[in-house]
Amino acid sequence: MILNPATPVALLAILRASDVSPNIPPCLANNFHGIFGQQSVFKISDFACFDLLPASVDEGSVLPLHLPEDGPQQLVWIQQSSIDDSLRTPEYEAEVADFDDWLVSEKRVAYPDGQTILLEGTQSSPLSLVYRNANSSIVAVADLDAAHVLSSRLPRFWKASPIPASPVSYFPVPDTAIKRVRDILVSLRFDALVAGIVNGISVEQMRRDIRYLTNEDGTSGIQSRHSFHHGSRIAAEWLKTQFEDAGAACRFMDFLEGFAPNVVCRYDARAENSNTVLISGHYDSRGSFGMERAPGGNDDGSGTISILNIARRIKQTGITFRSNVELVAFAGEEQGLFGSKAYARELRGKGANIILMIQADMLAYHAPEEPPQLGLPQFIGTPEVAQLVANVSAIYSPELTVGLTTACCSDHQSFHEQGYPATQVFERTGPIADPMYHNSGDFSNRPGYDLNQVRSISKVQFATLLHAAGFDLPEGVGLEDLGRVV
Ligand SMILES: *[C@@H]1O[C@H](CO)[C@@H](O)[C@H](O)[C@H]1NC(C)=O
Ligand SMILES: *[C@@H]1O[C@H](CO)[C@@H](O)[C@H](O)[C@H]1NC(C)=O
Ligand SMILES: [Zn+2]
Repeated sequence: MILNPATPVALLAILRASDVSPNIPPCLANNFHGIFGQQSVFKISDFACFDLLPASVDEGSVLPLHLPEDGPQQLVWIQQSSIDDSLRTPEYEAEVADFDDWLVSEKRVAYPDGQTILLEGTQSSPLSLVYRNANSSIVAVADLDAAHVLSSRLPRFWKASPIPASPVSYFPVPDTAIKRVRDILVSLRFDALVAGIVNGISVEQMRRDIRYLTNEDGTSGIQSRHSFHHGSRIAAEWLKTQFEDAGAACRFMDFLEGFAPNVVCRYDARAENSNTVLISGHYDSRGSFGMERAPGGNDDGSGTISILNIARRIKQTGITFRSNVELVAFAGEEQGLFGSKAYARELRGKGANIILMIQADMLAYHAPEEPPQLGLPQFIGTPEVAQLVANVSAIYSPELTVGLTTACCSDHQSFHEQGYPATQVFERTGPIADPMYHNSGDFSNRPGYDLNQVRSISKVQFATLLHAAGFDLPEGVGLEDLGRVV
């Protein structure tokens, strides 16, 4: 492999996340900077390590980094979401072309070579370097403020995530954790109590909740749940109160100046132990370029009402758990999984024992002519967890067509990176097809928005939680009581 650019100070090695084995050499493992898109990113300054890269790494996957010496610099990963062809409208393609023009106008091309184009910044540019990879991703070197500028210029279906300056710990999910998930899978059987509990999730309550979060009912006044908008603070307060009314103990977790907090809620295990099952969604949202309105009815109001209505049902049934249960509504997802990264790191730092994590992100949309579906991630996450969720779905929500999705990289990735078994539940068995994705028109009252599908997937998230955590009904309450509100 030949590297021809002038004296790079480091190399950015980009490996498919699924190609990275737990046994990678220390010069890689110690220089891991996280997973972006479906790629694992390593920053290597010891060039000898280059020769130890897996054979599958091709030239286009290694970027020479010329980090400018003046001023702190931020590496930013920019990724196009996996979207259905129906979303590649002429308007969208024009948006992408404009963005390209903007990048090019800010730079001069210095390193064209088939797969990788390196654009070098001008004096005034917020970006000092831009690498364009194949496969819909770009790496930019920006000054610290430019990361902000960048995300406001992105085309609709693109996301920017900062690559941390220092390496992050490389924690593959340990075999013991995977074995525990397999054990749950192998012993999985239909349980009438679980069915009775999850079947009580109410579409009507979900409708009330989503109409509040989007302000479709006109009562919350929330125009936007963008993490920087005050509407996201109103949503956070409301969510905390709702979860507390459902019997959970909640706290706000601030993670970055200016961002709305994570809402972290918890039901302690009935008898003290460390096992913890975590389910989540992200309550922040994103609207159309230049518009304040960001209702996020699907992305990710739908995942938020899933975990909220699981909490409501926990309260109604009075069940207690044998493991600790956490329900978390993350913020900062749209800017690069900020909220969940901070929380997953905090948990890893405390040595928390998360035995299972399931993120719900975008549960509501399927094309009007399509059946209700459940998509599980093809790339990021622990396949055994996805298999468990698939088998739970077949038992408790047989109306769902289950398959894989290339849509990727929601908050479960942050837990996957910290070595916790994790997966995501998603609305479709293909790429994203919601025409209101990242759009100011993402309301709940529109064709294709299916609250029955949200309920079906929420039942799966809940039933998986019940099987993994273990639970007890209150004294004297039985199956026959589950149909009515206890
Ligand atoms: C890019 O996409 C091509 C075609 O889908 C695939 O063969 C290749 O492995 C991908 N490269 C990376 C780095 O993911
Ligand atoms: C999961 O479901 C599949 C499909 O029904 C089945 O073949 C498999 O045996 C199940 N796995 C376990 C461990 O029960
Ligand atoms: Zn989302």
